[in-house]
Amino acid sequence: MPLSSVLILNGPNLNLLGSREPVIYGSATLNEHLASATAAAKIHGVTIHTMQSNSESEIVDAVHTATGTHDAIIINAGAFTHYSWALHDALRSFKGHKIEVHLSNPSAREEFRHVSVLAGVVDGSISGFGGLSYVLAVQALVALQSS
Ligand code: DQA
Repeated sequence: MPLSSVLILNGPNLNLLGSREPVIYGSATLNEHLASATAAAKIHGVTIHTMQSNSESEIVDAVHTATGTHDAIIINAGAFTHYSWALHDALRSFKGHKIEVHLSNPSAREEFRHVSVLAGVVDGSISGFGGLSYVLAVQALVALQSS
């Protein structure tokens, strides 16, 4: 089945990108990263839909709604990555491809960031490439879908 529609979900505090800890996250905004991912997807005829929320329940709801609406999910769950079993369970039930992304490399940071409770329920994780992580995730989905 060709990849047609991808949902990019973003969790808490990612709305602050651009001003939030620029030494770690860079100076580009979330919208700028999402525009790059959208441009990368367009080359392959893929449509990107995006959502950011600081609320765990809204992100869980968005994963539920993605079933039947989107072919794949790219998720930067922010700090929910490290403890949200609710999001883990929601992603488990989504049947399409799923990729976890991070701008920073959480494994090289504080110990509480070394665990991802989402890593076991996604196809793979892309971390540490700044905004390029989103673009690489789009490219991985395109490759996965055509393999
Ligand atoms: C992050 C890494 C998380 O540990 C952190 O809580 C974030 C951003 C990243 O993109 O590097 O909010 O997901």
